[in-house]
Amino acid sequence: MRPGKVYLVGAGPGHPELLTLKAAELIRTGDVIVYDRLIQEDVLALTKPSAERLFMGKSVGRHDSRQEEIHELLLAKAREGRMVVRLKGGDPFLFGRGGEEAEFLAEHGVAFEVIPGVCSALAAPLSAGIAVTHRDAASAVAIVTGHQVSEDAHQLDWGALSRIDTLVFLMSVANLRRIAAELVAAGRSPDTPAALIQMAFWHGERVLTAPLASIADEADRAGFKPPATLVVGEVVRLREKLQHAERDLKRRPDDGSRFEPSPAADQLFRLATGAAGTQLLGFAIESGLFDELERPCTTSAVASSRGLDADAVEEILEALAALGLIESTRDGYRNLEAASRYLTRASAESLRDVLLGQMALSTSWSALAGYARRGVSHARAPEGGEGAGDQQARLEGLARFAAPAVVEQIDLAGRGPILHVGWGGGAYGDAVARRWPQLPFTTLNPFLAPDHVAPVLECRARGPFGSVILTGLFASCQDEEVGRLLVAAASLLHDRGLLILHDRFLPGTLLPPPDLVLGALARRVARGGCRTWSTSRLTEALHALGFTDVRAEPVALNTQLVTAGGRSGS
Ligand SMILES: C[S@@+](CC[C@H](N)C(=O)[O-])C[C@H]1O[C@@H](n2cnc3c(N)ncnc32)[C@H](O)[C@@H]1O
Repeated sequence: MRPGKVYLVGAGPGHPELLTLKAAELIRTGDVIVYDRLIQEDVLALTKPSAERLFMGKSVGRHDSRQEEIHELLLAKAREGRMVVRLKGGDPFLFGRGGEEAEFLAEHGVAFEVIPGVCSALAAPLSAGIAVTHRDAASAVAIVTGHQVSEDAHQLDWGALSRIDTLVFLMSVANLRRIAAELVAAGRSPDTPAALIQMAFWHGERVLTAPLASIADEADRAGFKPPATLVVGEVVRLREKLQHAERDLKRRPDDGSRFEPSPAADQLFRLATGAAGTQLLGFAIESGLFDELERPCTTSAVASSRGLDADAVEEILEALAALGLIESTRDGYRNLEAASRYLTRASAESLRDVLLGQMALSTSWSALAGYARRGVSHARAPEGGEGAGDQQARLEGLARFAAPAVVEQIDLAGRGPILHVGWGGGAYGDAVARRWPQLPFTTLNPFLAPDHVAPVLECRARGPFGSVILTGLFASCQDEEVGRLLVAAASLLHDRGLLILHDRFLPGTLLPPPDLVLGALARRVARGGCRTWSTSRLTEALHALGFTDVRAEPVALNTQLVTAGGRSGS
Protein backbone atom coordinates (compact mmCIF):
# COMPACT_ATOMS: atom_id res chain seq x y z
CA MET A 1 0.00 0.00 0.00
CA ARG A 2 1.20 3.51 -0.88
CA PRO A 3 2.08 5.29 2.40
CA GLY A 4 -0.18 8.19 3.28
CA LYS A 5 0.84 11.70 4.11
CA VAL A 6 -0.56 14.36 6.43
CA TYR A 7 -0.64 18.02 5.39
CA LEU A 8 -1.04 20.48 8.26
CA VAL A 9 -2.66 23.33 6.38
CA GLY A 10 -3.36 26.90 7.50
CA ALA A 11 -6.84 27.94 6.28
CA GLY A 12 -6.52 31.64 7.16
CA PRO A 13 -9.13 33.66 9.03
CA GLY A 14 -12.13 31.87 7.48
CA HIS A 15 -12.53 33.44 4.04
CA PRO A 16 -11.97 31.19 1.00
CA GLU A 17 -10.34 33.97 -0.99
CA LEU A 18 -7.68 34.23 1.70
CA LEU A 19 -6.52 30.63 1.29
CA THR A 20 -3.08 30.14 -0.24
CA LEU A 21 -3.02 28.48 -3.66
CA LYS A 22 -1.35 25.44 -2.11
CA ALA A 23 -4.01 25.19 0.60
CA ALA A 24 -6.80 25.37 -2.00
CA GLU A 25 -5.15 22.66 -4.10
CA LEU A 26 -4.74 20.36 -1.10
CA ILE A 27 -8.34 20.91 0.03
CA ARG A 28 -9.55 20.08 -3.48
CA THR A 29 -7.55 16.87 -3.71
CA GLY A 30 -7.36 15.54 -0.13
CA ASP A 31 -8.93 12.14 0.65
CA VAL A 32 -9.63 12.98 4.28
CA ILE A 33 -10.24 16.50 5.58
CA VAL A 34 -9.93 16.90 9.35
CA TYR A 35 -11.12 20.35 10.38
CA ASP A 36 -11.83 22.64 13.34
CA ARG A 37 -14.63 24.89 14.48
CA LEU A 38 -13.36 28.01 12.72
CA ILE A 39 -13.28 26.43 9.25
CA GLN A 40 -16.10 27.75 7.09
CA GLU A 41 -18.47 25.80 4.85
CA ASP A 42 -17.30 27.86 1.87
CA VAL A 43 -13.81 26.48 2.38
CA LEU A 44 -15.11 22.93 2.84
CA ALA A 45 -17.18 23.30 -0.34
CA LEU A 46 -13.90 23.01 -2.25
CA THR A 47 -13.40 19.39 -1.20
CA LYS A 48 -13.92 16.66 -3.79
CA PRO A 49 -17.24 14.82 -3.52
CA SER A 50 -15.73 11.58 -2.31
CA ALA A 51 -13.56 13.19 0.37
CA GLU A 52 -14.21 12.13 3.93
CA ARG A 53 -14.83 15.23 6.04
CA LEU A 54 -14.26 14.89 9.77
CA PHE A 55 -15.14 17.67 12.19
CA MET A 56 -12.77 17.65 15.17
CA GLY A 57 -13.59 20.98 16.78
CA LYS A 58 -12.71 21.16 20.43
CA SER A 59 -15.48 21.38 22.95
CA VAL A 60 -14.80 23.49 26.03
CA GLY A 61 -13.21 21.54 28.88
CA ARG A 62 -12.19 18.57 26.73
CA HIS A 63 -9.05 19.99 25.15
CA ASP A 64 -6.58 17.28 25.99
CA SER A 65 -8.60 14.19 25.29
CA ARG A 66 -9.79 15.68 21.99
CA GLN A 67 -6.21 16.45 21.00
CA GLU A 68 -5.20 12.84 21.60
CA GLU A 69 -8.15 11.71 19.53
CA ILE A 70 -7.01 13.98 16.69
CA HIS A 71 -3.47 12.57 16.86
CA GLU A 72 -4.75 9.01 16.66
CA LEU A 73 -7.10 9.87 13.81
CA LEU A 74 -4.34 11.48 11.71
CA LEU A 75 -2.16 8.45 12.32
CA ALA A 76 -4.86 5.92 11.44
CA LYS A 77 -5.93 7.69 8.23
CA ALA A 78 -2.32 8.14 7.05
CA ARG A 79 -1.65 4.46 7.74
CA GLU A 80 -4.61 3.58 5.50
CA GLY A 81 -2.55 5.16 2.72
CA ARG A 82 -4.79 8.24 2.43
CA MET A 83 -3.87 11.82 1.75
CA VAL A 84 -4.93 13.61 4.92
CA VAL A 85 -5.48 17.37 5.07
CA ARG A 86 -5.53 18.67 8.61
CA LEU A 87 -7.12 22.13 8.25
CA LYS A 88 -6.47 24.69 10.95
CA GLY A 89 -7.68 28.28 11.26
CA GLY A 90 -5.09 30.98 10.49
CA ASP A 91 -1.55 29.66 10.51
CA PRO A 92 -1.07 26.09 11.78
CA PHE A 93 1.87 26.92 14.02
CA LEU A 94 0.43 29.98 15.75
CA PHE A 95 -1.47 28.95 18.92
CA GLY A 96 -3.16 26.15 17.04
CA ARG A 97 -1.35 23.11 18.48
CA GLY A 98 -0.03 22.43 14.99
CA GLY A 99 3.44 22.06 16.48
CA GLU A 100 2.28 19.21 18.71
CA GLU A 101 0.56 17.46 15.82
CA ALA A 102 3.70 17.70 13.67
CA GLU A 103 5.81 16.37 16.56
CA PHE A 104 3.46 13.42 17.06
CA LEU A 105 3.52 12.54 13.35
CA ALA A 106 7.32 12.76 13.28
CA GLU A 107 7.59 10.49 16.33
CA HIS A 108 5.38 7.91 14.61
CA GLY A 109 7.25 8.01 11.31
CA VAL A 110 4.33 9.49 9.31
CA ALA A 111 5.22 11.73 6.35
CA PHE A 112 3.92 15.26 6.86
CA GLU A 113 4.22 18.77 5.49
CA VAL A 114 3.16 22.10 6.97
CA ILE A 115 1.57 24.79 4.79
CA PRO A 116 1.48 28.29 6.29
CA GLY A 117 -1.76 30.29 6.37
CA VAL A 118 -2.86 33.91 6.68
CA CYS A 119 -2.65 34.52 10.40
CA SER A 120 -5.58 36.17 12.17
CA ALA A 121 -3.25 38.10 14.50
CA LEU A 122 -2.31 40.24 11.49
CA ALA A 123 -5.38 39.79 9.27
CA ALA A 124 -7.97 40.77 11.91
CA PRO A 125 -6.32 44.16 12.71
CA LEU A 126 -5.80 44.72 8.97
CA SER A 127 -9.48 44.13 8.36
CA ALA A 128 -10.24 46.90 10.88
CA GLY A 129 -7.79 49.30 9.21
CA ILE A 130 -4.99 48.80 11.75
CA ALA A 131 -1.46 48.51 10.39
CA VAL A 132 0.25 46.81 13.34
CA THR A 133 3.69 48.34 12.64
CA HIS A 134 2.68 51.64 11.08
CA ARG A 135 5.92 53.58 10.73
CA ASP A 136 4.56 56.59 12.65
CA ALA A 137 3.60 54.61 15.71
CA ALA A 138 5.32 51.22 16.09
CA SER A 139 8.47 49.33 15.28
CA ALA A 140 7.66 46.14 17.17
CA VAL A 141 4.64 43.90 17.60
CA ALA A 142 4.08 40.97 19.96
CA ILE A 143 1.46 38.28 19.47
CA VAL A 144 0.27 36.99 22.81
CA THR A 145 -2.18 34.35 23.97
CA GLY A 146 -4.95 35.72 26.14
CA HIS A 147 -5.87 32.20 27.09
CA GLN A 148 -3.28 31.58 29.77
CA VAL A 149 -3.98 34.81 31.62
CA SER A 150 -5.44 33.64 34.88
CA GLU A 151 -5.03 34.54 38.54
CA ASP A 152 -2.75 31.71 39.58
CA ALA A 153 -0.97 30.44 36.52
CA HIS A 154 0.44 32.89 34.05
CA GLN A 155 3.84 32.84 32.49
CA LEU A 156 3.68 36.15 30.70
CA ASP A 157 6.21 38.85 31.47
CA TRP A 158 3.86 41.85 31.75
CA GLY A 159 6.71 44.28 32.37
CA ALA A 160 8.36 43.32 29.08
CA LEU A 161 5.06 43.22 27.20
CA SER A 162 3.95 46.64 28.42
CA ARG A 163 7.00 48.21 26.72
CA ILE A 164 6.29 46.75 23.26
CA ASP A 165 4.66 49.23 20.84
CA THR A 166 1.85 47.00 19.56
CA LEU A 167 0.37 44.01 21.35
CA VAL A 168 -2.01 41.58 19.66
CA PHE A 169 -3.88 39.19 21.98
CA LEU A 170 -5.64 36.13 20.57
CA MET A 171 -8.19 34.08 22.55
CA SER A 172 -8.62 37.05 24.84
CA VAL A 173 -12.36 37.81 25.07
CA ALA A 174 -12.83 36.08 28.44
CA ASN A 175 -9.77 37.77 29.95
CA LEU A 176 -9.95 41.36 28.67
CA ARG A 177 -10.28 42.88 32.14
CA ARG A 178 -7.32 40.98 33.49
CA ILE A 179 -5.12 41.76 30.46
CA ALA A 180 -5.85 45.51 30.72
CA ALA A 181 -5.22 45.50 34.49
CA GLU A 182 -1.87 43.66 34.14
CA LEU A 183 -0.67 46.03 31.42
CA VAL A 184 -1.66 49.16 33.38
CA ALA A 185 -0.08 47.76 36.57
CA ALA A 186 3.12 47.15 34.58
CA GLY A 187 3.23 50.79 33.47
CA ARG A 188 1.22 51.04 30.24
CA SER A 189 -0.99 54.15 30.16
CA PRO A 190 -4.69 53.40 30.79
CA ASP A 191 -5.40 55.80 27.89
CA THR A 192 -3.55 53.63 25.35
CA PRO A 193 -5.98 53.02 22.48
CA ALA A 194 -7.23 49.46 22.11
CA ALA A 195 -9.39 47.69 19.52
CA LEU A 196 -11.30 44.44 19.58
CA ILE A 197 -12.06 42.84 16.21
CA GLN A 198 -14.68 40.11 16.21
CA MET A 199 -15.00 37.62 13.32
CA ALA A 200 -12.78 39.45 10.88
CA PHE A 201 -13.75 38.81 7.25
CA TRP A 202 -17.07 37.19 8.18
CA HIS A 203 -20.50 38.77 8.15
CA GLY A 204 -20.41 39.11 11.90
CA GLU A 205 -17.31 41.31 11.75
CA ARG A 206 -17.48 44.02 14.39
CA VAL A 207 -14.84 46.43 15.62
CA LEU A 208 -14.78 48.16 18.98
CA THR A 209 -12.25 50.82 19.96
CA ALA A 210 -11.79 52.22 23.47
CA PRO A 211 -8.99 53.24 25.83
CA LEU A 212 -7.26 50.23 27.40
CA ALA A 213 -8.84 50.98 30.80
CA SER A 214 -12.40 50.69 29.50
CA ILE A 215 -12.20 48.17 26.63
CA ALA A 216 -13.46 45.30 28.82
CA ASP A 217 -16.57 47.22 29.96
CA GLU A 218 -17.30 48.37 26.43
CA ALA A 219 -16.90 44.83 25.06
CA ASP A 220 -19.29 43.50 27.73
CA ARG A 221 -21.81 46.19 26.92
CA ALA A 222 -21.63 45.50 23.19
CA GLY A 223 -21.76 41.71 23.72
CA PHE A 224 -18.48 40.84 21.96
CA LYS A 225 -17.88 37.12 21.60
CA PRO A 226 -15.01 34.89 20.38
CA PRO A 227 -13.40 34.62 17.93
CA ALA A 228 -12.01 38.10 18.45
CA THR A 229 -8.58 39.69 18.44
CA LEU A 230 -7.43 42.48 20.76
CA VAL A 231 -4.93 45.11 19.61
CA VAL A 232 -3.30 47.50 22.08
CA GLY A 233 -1.11 50.42 20.98
CA GLU A 234 -0.96 53.82 19.30
CA VAL A 235 -1.41 52.18 15.88
CA VAL A 236 -5.13 51.85 16.73
CA ARG A 237 -5.50 55.65 16.44
CA LEU A 238 -4.33 55.59 12.81
CA ARG A 239 -7.28 53.39 11.95
CA GLU A 240 -9.39 56.50 11.31
CA LYS A 241 -7.64 57.00 7.99
CA LEU A 242 -7.23 53.37 6.96
CA GLN A 243 -10.63 51.89 7.76
CA HIS A 244 -12.27 53.32 4.64
CA ALA A 245 -10.43 51.07 2.21
CA GLU A 246 -12.88 49.49 -0.22
CA ARG A 247 -13.20 45.78 0.13
CA ASP A 248 -13.27 43.64 -2.94
CA LEU A 249 -13.31 40.34 -1.05
CA LYS A 250 -16.77 38.85 -1.06
CA ARG A 251 -18.55 38.92 2.28
CA ARG A 252 -19.11 35.50 3.78
CA PRO A 253 -21.85 34.05 5.94
CA ASP A 254 -20.69 33.64 9.51
CA ASP A 255 -22.58 30.85 11.16
CA GLY A 256 -20.87 27.75 9.87
CA SER A 257 -24.29 26.66 8.64
CA ARG A 258 -24.26 23.51 6.56
CA PHE A 259 -27.13 24.78 4.47
CA GLU A 260 -25.64 27.35 2.13
CA PRO A 261 -26.16 27.01 -1.62
CA SER A 262 -22.98 25.20 -2.55
CA PRO A 263 -21.62 24.88 -6.06
CA ALA A 264 -23.03 21.37 -6.12
CA ALA A 265 -26.61 22.56 -5.62
CA ASP A 266 -26.21 25.31 -8.19
CA GLN A 267 -24.72 22.87 -10.68
CA LEU A 268 -27.65 20.54 -10.17
CA PHE A 269 -30.09 23.30 -11.06
CA ARG A 270 -28.17 24.06 -14.22
CA LEU A 271 -28.12 20.39 -15.12
CA ALA A 272 -31.77 19.90 -14.35
CA THR A 273 -32.81 22.73 -16.61
CA GLY A 274 -30.57 21.85 -19.56
CA ALA A 275 -32.14 19.60 -22.19
CA ALA A 276 -30.21 16.33 -21.71
CA GLY A 277 -29.84 16.92 -17.97
CA THR A 278 -33.60 17.22 -17.60
CA GLN A 279 -34.19 13.80 -19.09
CA LEU A 280 -31.35 12.05 -17.35
CA LEU A 281 -31.74 13.59 -13.93
CA GLY A 282 -35.52 13.50 -14.14
CA PHE A 283 -35.49 9.79 -14.84
CA ALA A 284 -32.92 9.03 -12.13
CA ILE A 285 -34.61 11.13 -9.45
CA GLU A 286 -38.15 10.09 -10.21
CA SER A 287 -37.31 6.39 -10.34
CA GLY A 288 -35.57 6.55 -6.96
CA LEU A 289 -32.23 5.52 -8.44
CA PHE A 290 -30.25 7.69 -6.02
CA ASP A 291 -32.08 6.16 -3.06
CA GLU A 292 -30.99 2.73 -4.25
CA LEU A 293 -27.40 3.86 -4.86
CA GLU A 294 -26.86 4.89 -1.24
CA ARG A 295 -25.20 1.45 -1.15
CA PRO A 296 -23.08 0.07 -4.01
CA CYS A 297 -25.26 -1.65 -6.63
CA THR A 298 -24.28 -3.48 -9.80
CA THR A 299 -25.86 -2.59 -13.13
CA SER A 300 -27.60 -5.96 -13.36
CA ALA A 301 -29.04 -5.58 -9.83
CA VAL A 302 -30.45 -2.15 -10.73
CA ALA A 303 -31.83 -3.46 -14.02
CA SER A 304 -33.47 -6.55 -12.55
CA SER A 305 -34.99 -4.77 -9.52
CA ARG A 306 -36.78 -2.42 -11.94
CA GLY A 307 -37.38 -4.67 -14.93
CA LEU A 308 -35.17 -2.50 -17.17
CA ASP A 309 -32.85 -3.25 -20.04
CA ALA A 310 -29.34 -3.79 -18.61
CA ASP A 311 -27.54 -2.04 -21.50
CA ALA A 312 -29.74 1.03 -21.16
CA VAL A 313 -29.18 1.09 -17.39
CA GLU A 314 -25.41 0.82 -17.90
CA GLU A 315 -25.51 3.83 -20.24
CA ILE A 316 -27.54 5.86 -17.76
CA LEU A 317 -25.24 4.98 -14.88
CA GLU A 318 -22.17 5.86 -16.93
CA ALA A 319 -23.69 9.21 -17.84
CA LEU A 320 -24.52 9.95 -14.19
CA ALA A 321 -20.94 9.04 -13.27
CA ALA A 322 -19.67 11.42 -15.97
CA LEU A 323 -21.78 14.17 -14.38
CA GLY A 324 -19.98 13.56 -11.09
CA LEU A 325 -23.09 12.35 -9.25
CA ILE A 326 -22.20 8.70 -8.73
CA GLU A 327 -18.97 6.71 -8.88
CA SER A 328 -18.06 3.29 -10.09
CA THR A 329 -16.51 1.10 -7.38
CA ARG A 330 -15.42 -2.52 -7.20
CA ASP A 331 -18.84 -3.42 -5.75
CA GLY A 332 -20.88 -1.46 -8.29
CA TYR A 333 -22.09 2.12 -8.66
CA ARG A 334 -22.80 4.29 -5.62
CA ASN A 335 -23.68 7.90 -4.83
CA LEU A 336 -21.07 10.58 -4.44
CA GLU A 337 -21.70 13.21 -1.78
CA ALA A 338 -23.77 15.61 -3.90
CA ALA A 339 -26.23 12.85 -4.81
CA SER A 340 -26.57 11.59 -1.22
CA ARG A 341 -27.03 15.08 0.05
CA TYR A 342 -29.37 16.58 -2.53
CA LEU A 343 -31.00 13.79 -4.54
CA THR A 344 -32.15 11.15 -2.07
CA ARG A 345 -35.55 11.15 -0.40
CA ALA A 346 -34.24 10.76 3.13
CA SER A 347 -31.73 13.61 3.17
CA ALA A 348 -32.70 16.68 5.19
CA GLU A 349 -31.17 18.80 2.44
CA SER A 350 -32.93 16.98 -0.37
CA LEU A 351 -33.57 19.03 -3.51
CA ARG A 352 -35.48 16.18 -5.11
CA ASP A 353 -38.94 17.75 -5.21
CA VAL A 354 -37.65 21.21 -6.06
CA LEU A 355 -35.70 19.84 -9.02
CA LEU A 356 -38.61 17.75 -10.24
CA GLY A 357 -40.79 20.87 -10.02
CA GLN A 358 -38.29 22.88 -12.05
CA MET A 359 -38.12 20.19 -14.70
CA ALA A 360 -41.89 20.01 -14.93
CA LEU A 361 -41.85 23.67 -15.95
CA SER A 362 -40.29 22.75 -19.27
CA THR A 363 -43.45 22.37 -21.30
CA SER A 364 -43.36 21.26 -24.88
CA TRP A 365 -42.29 23.55 -27.68
CA SER A 366 -45.69 23.22 -29.30
CA ALA A 367 -47.36 25.21 -26.48
CA LEU A 368 -44.93 28.04 -27.05
CA ALA A 369 -45.21 27.80 -30.79
CA GLY A 370 -48.98 28.05 -30.43
CA TYR A 371 -48.58 31.17 -28.31
CA ALA A 372 -46.11 32.70 -30.79
CA ARG A 373 -48.54 32.15 -33.65
CA ARG A 374 -51.82 33.03 -32.06
CA GLY A 375 -51.17 34.81 -28.76
CA VAL A 376 -52.60 34.26 -25.29
CA SER A 377 -56.21 33.65 -26.23
CA HIS A 378 -55.41 30.44 -28.14
CA ALA A 379 -52.98 28.89 -25.72
CA ARG A 380 -54.28 25.93 -23.77
CA ALA A 381 -53.22 24.86 -20.30
CA PRO A 382 -50.99 21.79 -20.59
CA GLU A 383 -52.46 18.67 -19.11
CA GLY A 384 -51.34 17.30 -15.77
CA GLY A 385 -49.97 20.71 -14.81
CA GLU A 386 -48.47 21.77 -11.54
CA GLY A 387 -51.04 22.19 -8.78
CA ALA A 388 -51.06 25.11 -6.34
CA GLY A 389 -49.55 22.95 -3.59
CA ASP A 390 -46.71 21.80 -5.86
CA GLN A 391 -46.00 25.36 -6.88
CA GLN A 392 -45.91 26.48 -3.26
CA ALA A 393 -43.51 23.67 -2.30
CA ARG A 394 -41.28 24.47 -5.27
CA LEU A 395 -41.12 28.21 -4.56
CA GLU A 396 -40.53 27.67 -0.84
CA GLY A 397 -37.81 25.14 -1.68
CA LEU A 398 -36.13 27.56 -4.08
CA ALA A 399 -36.18 30.31 -1.45
CA ARG A 400 -34.55 28.01 1.07
CA PHE A 401 -31.53 27.71 -1.21
CA ALA A 402 -31.50 31.17 -2.75
CA ALA A 403 -32.16 33.33 0.34
CA PRO A 404 -28.64 33.04 1.86
CA ALA A 405 -27.07 33.93 -1.51
CA VAL A 406 -29.40 36.90 -1.96
CA VAL A 407 -28.80 38.22 1.55
CA GLU A 408 -25.06 37.88 1.01
CA GLN A 409 -25.27 40.21 -1.97
CA ILE A 410 -27.18 43.12 -0.44
CA ASP A 411 -26.28 45.55 2.32
CA LEU A 412 -29.18 46.49 4.54
CA ALA A 413 -27.20 47.56 7.61
CA GLY A 414 -28.45 50.85 9.07
CA ARG A 415 -31.50 51.08 6.80
CA GLY A 416 -34.23 50.23 9.28
CA PRO A 417 -36.93 47.52 9.41
CA ILE A 418 -37.25 45.00 6.59
CA LEU A 419 -40.51 43.81 5.04
CA HIS A 420 -40.42 40.60 3.03
CA VAL A 421 -43.32 39.98 0.64
CA GLY A 422 -43.75 36.64 -1.08
CA TRP A 423 -42.57 33.06 -0.80
CA GLY A 424 -39.88 31.76 1.53
CA GLY A 425 -40.36 34.22 4.41
CA GLY A 426 -38.82 31.76 6.90
CA ALA A 427 -35.69 31.29 4.80
CA TYR A 428 -35.25 35.02 4.24
CA GLY A 429 -35.92 35.73 7.92
CA ASP A 430 -33.21 33.24 8.98
CA ALA A 431 -30.67 34.60 6.49
CA VAL A 432 -31.37 38.20 7.54
CA ALA A 433 -31.20 37.38 11.27
CA ARG A 434 -27.84 35.71 10.82
CA ARG A 435 -26.39 38.78 9.14
CA TRP A 436 -28.20 41.63 10.92
CA PRO A 437 -29.60 40.22 14.18
CA GLN A 438 -30.76 43.69 15.28
CA LEU A 439 -32.88 44.54 12.21
CA PRO A 440 -36.63 44.00 12.68
CA PHE A 441 -37.99 41.65 10.00
CA THR A 442 -41.62 41.14 8.99
CA THR A 443 -42.83 38.70 6.37
CA LEU A 444 -46.09 38.45 4.50
CA ASN A 445 -47.24 36.14 1.71
CA PRO A 446 -50.11 37.80 -0.17
CA PHE A 447 -50.06 35.15 -2.92
CA LEU A 448 -52.11 32.69 -0.91
CA ALA A 449 -55.10 35.09 -0.91
CA PRO A 450 -57.10 36.11 -4.03
CA ASP A 451 -56.20 39.83 -3.71
CA HIS A 452 -52.42 40.21 -3.81
CA VAL A 453 -52.19 43.97 -3.43
CA ALA A 454 -54.46 44.86 -0.49
CA PRO A 455 -52.51 42.86 2.16
CA VAL A 456 -49.34 44.68 1.11
CA LEU A 457 -50.98 48.10 1.41
CA GLU A 458 -52.22 47.14 4.87
CA CYS A 459 -48.57 47.06 5.99
CA ARG A 460 -48.48 50.87 5.76
CA ALA A 461 -49.55 51.02 9.40
CA ARG A 462 -46.34 49.19 10.37
CA GLY A 463 -43.99 51.23 8.14
CA PRO A 464 -42.15 53.05 6.85
CA PHE A 465 -39.63 50.30 6.06
CA GLY A 466 -35.93 50.60 5.25
CA SER A 467 -36.25 47.91 2.63
CA VAL A 468 -38.92 45.75 1.04
CA ILE A 469 -37.88 42.39 -0.43
CA LEU A 470 -40.27 40.93 -3.04
CA THR A 471 -39.80 37.27 -3.94
CA GLY A 472 -41.59 35.03 -6.41
CA LEU A 473 -43.75 37.84 -7.81
CA PHE A 474 -43.58 36.77 -11.42
CA ALA A 475 -44.65 33.20 -10.82
CA SER A 476 -47.65 34.31 -8.78
CA CYS A 477 -49.06 37.51 -10.31
CA GLN A 478 -50.79 38.56 -13.47
CA ASP A 479 -49.20 41.20 -15.66
CA GLU A 480 -50.85 44.35 -14.35
CA GLU A 481 -50.76 43.07 -10.77
CA VAL A 482 -46.98 43.15 -10.87
CA GLY A 483 -47.09 46.88 -11.62
CA ARG A 484 -49.61 47.54 -8.83
CA LEU A 485 -47.53 45.54 -6.35
CA LEU A 486 -44.42 47.53 -7.23
CA VAL A 487 -46.30 50.78 -6.55
CA ALA A 488 -47.67 49.40 -3.27
CA ALA A 489 -44.25 48.18 -2.12
CA ALA A 490 -42.55 51.48 -3.03
CA SER A 491 -45.14 53.39 -1.00
CA LEU A 492 -44.09 51.50 2.15
CA LEU A 493 -40.47 52.65 1.98
CA HIS A 494 -38.95 55.61 3.72
CA ASP A 495 -37.08 58.25 1.68
CA ARG A 496 -33.83 56.37 1.25
CA GLY A 497 -35.49 52.95 1.29
CA LEU A 498 -34.43 50.09 -0.96
CA LEU A 499 -36.77 47.94 -3.06
CA ILE A 500 -35.35 44.46 -3.72
CA LEU A 501 -36.73 41.89 -6.12
CA HIS A 502 -35.51 38.35 -6.26
CA ASP A 503 -37.10 36.45 -9.08
CA ARG A 504 -36.70 34.71 -12.35
CA PHE A 505 -37.29 37.00 -15.31
CA LEU A 506 -36.01 37.49 -18.78
CA PRO A 507 -32.57 39.05 -18.75
CA GLY A 508 -33.13 41.62 -21.52
CA THR A 509 -35.70 43.07 -23.89
CA LEU A 510 -35.62 40.15 -26.31
CA LEU A 511 -36.93 36.68 -25.58
CA PRO A 512 -33.88 34.44 -25.24
CA PRO A 513 -34.11 30.76 -26.08
CA PRO A 514 -33.13 28.85 -22.84
CA ASP A 515 -35.70 26.14 -22.52
CA LEU A 516 -36.45 26.82 -18.88
CA VAL A 517 -37.39 30.43 -19.48
CA LEU A 518 -39.48 29.52 -22.49
CA GLY A 519 -41.02 26.60 -20.66
CA ALA A 520 -41.96 28.85 -17.75
CA LEU A 521 -43.22 31.48 -20.14
CA ALA A 522 -45.34 29.04 -22.08
CA ARG A 523 -46.79 27.72 -18.89
CA ARG A 524 -47.73 31.13 -17.53
CA VAL A 525 -49.14 32.12 -20.88
CA ALA A 526 -51.11 28.90 -21.07
CA ARG A 527 -52.62 29.62 -17.68
CA GLY A 528 -53.86 32.95 -19.09
CA GLY A 529 -50.95 34.66 -17.38
CA CYS A 530 -48.95 37.77 -17.98
CA ARG A 531 -46.65 39.10 -20.61
CA THR A 532 -43.37 38.18 -18.96
CA TRP A 533 -41.48 41.03 -17.39
CA SER A 534 -37.95 41.49 -18.64
CA THR A 535 -35.33 43.22 -16.52
CA SER A 536 -35.46 46.23 -18.83
CA ARG A 537 -39.22 46.51 -18.51
CA LEU A 538 -38.84 46.26 -14.75
CA THR A 539 -36.06 48.89 -14.71
CA GLU A 540 -38.30 51.26 -16.65
CA ALA A 541 -41.14 50.74 -14.18
CA LEU A 542 -38.83 51.34 -11.21
CA HIS A 543 -37.45 54.54 -12.75
CA ALA A 544 -41.04 55.71 -13.24
CA LEU A 545 -41.54 55.21 -9.49
CA GLY A 546 -38.68 57.64 -8.77
CA PHE A 547 -35.83 55.15 -8.17
CA THR A 548 -32.65 56.47 -9.78
CA ASP A 549 -30.25 53.68 -8.81
CA VAL A 550 -31.55 50.40 -10.28
CA ARG A 551 -29.23 47.39 -10.60
CA ALA A 552 -29.77 43.83 -11.79
CA GLU A 553 -27.39 40.92 -11.29
CA PRO A 554 -27.64 37.15 -11.54
CA VAL A 555 -27.60 35.14 -8.29
CA ALA A 556 -27.86 31.47 -7.37
CA LEU A 557 -30.14 29.02 -9.15
CA ASN A 558 -30.52 30.97 -12.41
CA THR A 559 -32.38 33.79 -10.68
CA GLN A 560 -31.93 37.55 -10.77
CA LEU A 561 -31.58 40.11 -8.04
CA VAL A 562 -32.79 43.63 -8.76
CA THR A 563 -32.25 46.46 -6.27
CA ALA A 564 -33.79 49.91 -6.59
CA GLY A 565 -32.77 52.88 -4.45
CA GLY A 566 -31.80 56.51 -4.83
CA ARG A 567 -35.28 57.97 -4.41
CA SER A 568 -35.44 61.30 -2.64
CA GLY A 569 -38.26 63.27 -1.16
CA SER A 570 -40.86 60.64 -1.91
C1 LIG B 1 -6.63 29.06 18.73
S1 LIG B 1 -6.25 30.63 18.06
C2 LIG B 1 -5.67 30.12 16.53
C3 LIG B 1 -4.97 31.20 15.77
C4 LIG B 1 -4.65 30.78 14.37
N1 LIG B 1 -3.74 29.68 14.34
C5 LIG B 1 -4.16 31.95 13.53
O1 LIG B 1 -3.04 31.95 13.06
O2 LIG B 1 -4.96 32.85 13.28
C6 LIG B 1 -7.84 31.26 17.70
C7 LIG B 1 -7.91 32.76 17.93
O3 LIG B 1 -7.57 33.45 16.74
C8 LIG B 1 -8.30 34.64 16.68
N2 LIG B 1 -9.12 34.60 15.44
C9 LIG B 1 -9.26 33.56 14.58
N3 LIG B 1 -10.04 33.90 13.53
C10 LIG B 1 -10.40 35.18 13.75
C11 LIG B 1 -11.21 36.10 13.04
N4 LIG B 1 -11.79 35.76 11.88
N5 LIG B 1 -11.37 37.35 13.55
C12 LIG B 1 -10.78 37.71 14.70
N6 LIG B 1 -10.01 36.89 15.42
C13 LIG B 1 -9.81 35.64 14.96
C14 LIG B 1 -9.17 34.71 17.91
O4 LIG B 1 -8.46 35.44 18.89
C15 LIG B 1 -9.28 33.26 18.29
O5 LIG B 1 -9.55 33.09 19.66
